[in-house]
Amino acid sequence: LSLASLADFPIGAAVPADPWPNSLMQSPQRQALMEQHFDSLTAENAMKMAYLQPAPGEFEFSHADALVSYAKANDMIVHGHALVWHTQTAKWMDEHPGPAHEITQIMDNHVRTVAGHYAGKITSWDVVNEAFTDDNPSEYRETLWYNNIGPGYIERAFRLAHQAAPQADLYYNDYDISGMIGPAKLDRVLEMIDDFLARGVPIHGLGFQMHIDTEKPSLEDIRESFAKAVARGIKVRISELDIAVNQSEQYQHLTPEVAQLQRQRYRDVARVYLETVPAKLRGGITLWGLTDSDSWIPGFKERADWPLLFDADFQPKPALEGFAQGL
Ligand code: XIL
Repeated sequence: LSLASLADFPIGAAVPADPWPNSLMQSPQRQALMEQHFDSLTAENAMKMAYLQPAPGEFEFSHADALVSYAKANDMIVHGHALVWHTQTAKWMDEHPGPAHEITQIMDNHVRTVAGHYAGKITSWDVVNEAFTDDNPSEYRETLWYNNIGPGYIERAFRLAHQAAPQADLYYNDYDISGMIGPAKLDRVLEMIDDFLARGVPIHGLGFQMHIDTEKPSLEDIRESFAKAVARGIKVRISELDIAVNQSEQYQHLTPEVAQLQRQRYRDVARVYLETVPAKLRGGITLWGLTDSDSWIPGFKERADWPLLFDADFQPKPALEGFAQGL
């Protein structure tokens, strides 16, 4: 069984680089899973600003480059994550008081340098990540970028990325836009995208993170959300898929029953994607990690969980079978 060979669109996983724990570069088991099942690779952290630009104007590409070389050697495409985000900016950046024109220069230089470094090597980028909030999606999230550059920072980042990497597909990426919290946030994102398309701002797709669970969002909500993006003629990626099962914290381990629920859920999500997104708009599906022991969910939610396709011993879970069935 090979996931990638079942799909006519990229199937990816986010993986750690050196010097993170569980780095792909140090793990023959993870490399074996990548090579068997995936034809797309994303750096889980290594292409975030904190790591690519650890000191002002000083770029450190070696760890991310190792992932890109690995991907190339194994016929995988690379999806870049992420050029502009409010989290995992460098410490020097967090402490930076401004002034605004300097923050603008910092963003410009970062986007140009990173997108330029990987031009021709990276197929697509998350240009801006998580620019809207959940509670008040009509307003932009008040980030360092927004507060200093103003609402135009998003458009600016897309234009710069396109100049530096004209072949790359450029995505806006966000979480809870597939029905987890109602349609308002997605609608606001699409309003921005409509405006970009109308004015010729280079944007090619929308990334739905989809850190979801076995209950929410409903398949109908997911379907409707994808359909809204498809109606714009833009590409749709599921950019960070994981399916949590222990949101109510009742399990000490993954029970066979829950593993079956998760299996169906992976199948259903893949199916809805295939049914709703026409072939030419399928940017692909990326899992946010390989094994349950790699997943960010237990740390982030502070509870046990088993959200991915492989268990801690690198063995396929029922989820893998379900996902394959859906493809
Ligand atoms: C997460 C990583 O998985 C963690 O290792 C890191 O500590 C924090 O970031 N949305 C995103 C991703 O866009 O970049 C986040 O990745 C998960 C949520």
